[in-house]
Amino acid sequence: MQIFLDTADVAELKALVDTGLIDGVTTNPTLVAKAGKPFRPVLAEICALIPGPISAEAVATDAAGMVREGNLLRAVAPNVVVKLPLTPEGLKATKILSADGAKVNVTLCFSAVQALLAAKAGATYISPFVGRLDDGGHDGMELVREIRAIYDNYGFETQILAASLRTPPHVRDAALAGADCATLPPAVFRALYKHPLTDLGLEAFLKDWKASGLSVE
Ligand code: G3P
Repeated sequence: MQIFLDTADVAELKALVDTGLIDGVTTNPTLVAKAGKPFRPVLAEICALIPGPISAEAVATDAAGMVREGNLLRAVAPNVVVKLPLTPEGLKATKILSADGAKVNVTLCFSAVQALLAAKAGATYISPFVGRLDDGGHDGMELVREIRAIYDNYGFETQILAASLRTPPHVRDAALAGADCATLPPAVFRALYKHPLTDLGLEAFLKDWKASGLSVE
C-alpha cells in the first residue's frame, strides 16, 4: 500500500521525507488555506520535495472552470494530480482531463456507486472519506471494502486512496481491505511506528548489552 501524507505543511513534509516511506502527498483547500502561503508556489515546493503523486484540488464548481484550473495546476510540475470533487461537473472534468493525459483524484467519495461513476469517468484515484463517514455513525471502512469488490469485479484500474484516516487502526483496516494507497495526517504516520513493547524490548536489550561489556566493533 502506498503511503501519502495529507498535508500542505512543507516543514512537516521536510521532516518526514527522510523516512524513505512517503510515496506522495494529498492536499485539499482547507489544508492549503491552513499553510497560509500562495497556492501554486507551495505546490511547486511540495512537488520538488517528493517525487511521487501530489494531489492539488481545483476550486471551480463548473466543469470548464475545473479543466482550466486543473491545467494550471498540472503546469506546476509533472507529478501533480488534479483533485476534483465527486459531482456531475467534477466527473465531466475528470473525463476531459483524463483523456488529455492528466492524473485525476476524485475526492469527497461517500458511496460505492459514486466510486463506480468516478472509475467510469477515468479517475486515476478515488478518495473515500473513511473518518467522516465514521463521524456520521456509518462504517467508513465498509465503503473501502465495497469499492474494492466493485473495482475487482470489473477490472477498473482506478486506485483506491483511503482518505480521512485518523488513527493507526484505520490504516491497518485500509490495508486489510485492499486499498491501493492511504493518505495520513503526519501525526498518524508518526504513530504507525509506535508500540510500547518495541520501546520496552529495546530498553531491555540495550541494558543487557551494556552490562555485558561486549561490543559490535
Ligand atoms: O484527504 C481528505 C482528508 O483531508 C479529509 O480528512 O480528517 O478532514 O476528514 P478529514
